[in-house]
Amino acid sequence: MNVDSLLRQAKKKINSLDSELILLNVLGENDRSFFAVHGDQVLSSEQLKKFEEMVEKREKGVPLAYILGIKEFYGRDFRVSTEVLVPRPESETIIDFAKELSAEKIIDVGTGSGCLGISLKLETPGADVLATDISEDALKIARENAKNFGADIEFLESNLLENVDGEFDLIVANLPYVSRDWEWTSGIEFEPELALFAEDNGLFLIKELIKQAKGQTKHLILESDTSQQKDIVEFAEKNGFKFIKKDNFVTVFKGK
Ligand SMILES: C[S@@+](CC[C@H](N)C(=O)[O-])C[C@H]1O[C@@H](n2cnc3c(N)ncnc32)[C@H](O)[C@@H]1O
Repeated sequence: MNVDSLLRQAKKKINSLDSELILLNVLGENDRSFFAVHGDQVLSSEQLKKFEEMVEKREKGVPLAYILGIKEFYGRDFRVSTEVLVPRPESETIIDFAKELSAEKIIDVGTGSGCLGISLKLETPGADVLATDISEDALKIARENAKNFGADIEFLESNLLENVDGEFDLIVANLPYVSRDWEWTSGIEFEPELALFAEDNGLFLIKELIKQAKGQTKHLILESDTSQQKDIVEFAEKNGFKFIKKDNFVTVFKGK
C-alpha cells in the first residue's frame, strides 16, 4: 500500500495531522512537504506494521507524544516516555517569568522530562541549575535530554527539598496538582500517577514545598490549576512569600 492510500485510511480513524506525523516518524522523515512528492511510495511490511500499531495506539487515546517519543517544549524537542508527564504549553510561562528574574542559582523541583530545568539552563546559560525528582525513572529521561541538548545541569533524587542543601535565587515547580475528585481527569490515564495526583484537593505537595522553601529562596514560581491559585497565594503569604503576578496556571512569589 502506498503513502497516499495509507494516509486516507488512517485519517478515517485519527486526526489527519497525527496520521501524517506518525507516518513521517515511521519513514524517518521530518517534513510534511515529503507527502507532496512521495505519495506513491510503498512501505515495507515492517514499516506498515509499525504504522498500523502506532495508529491503533492513537485511536485508543495514547498521547501522540508517547507514540512518537517526542514533545516540543519552548522550541525544543524533548524525549518523553510513559515515565514522565508530557510537557504542557501552559508551563512555558514558567520559563518566560523566570527569565525576567535573572536568577543565578535555580532549582526545578519535580523535573519530569527535565523540560523546565533544561530550558532554564539553555535560556539563561549563566545560571547554575539543579533539577530534582522523586522518580529515578523520570530522572533517567531528564538526564538523557540534558545530554542531548548539551545542558550542563545537576540532577538529584529527592522528595521535594528533603535532600537539597543551600539557598536559591529561584525555585520553580510544576508539581502534581490534580485532585482525584476532579471530573476531567479522564484524558490523562496514560500519564504516570506520580506526576499527576496530590491529596488535599491537589494542593498537598505545593503546600509542603512552600513550607520547605520558606526563607530558602528569593523567588518561587509555581504551576497549579487556576481554581487553586487563590488558596496557594493565601498559603504562601502566610509563609512569608509575597505575591508578584500570575497568569492562568503560573504564580510568581517573592521570597526572603
Ligand atoms: C506534573 S509533573 C511535571 C514534570 C515537569 N516539571 C513538567 O513540567 O513537565 C510532576 C513531577 O513531580 C514529580 N514528583 C511527584 N512527587 C514528588 C515529590 N514528592 N518530590 C519531588 N518530585 C515529585 C513527579 O515524578 C513528576 O515528574
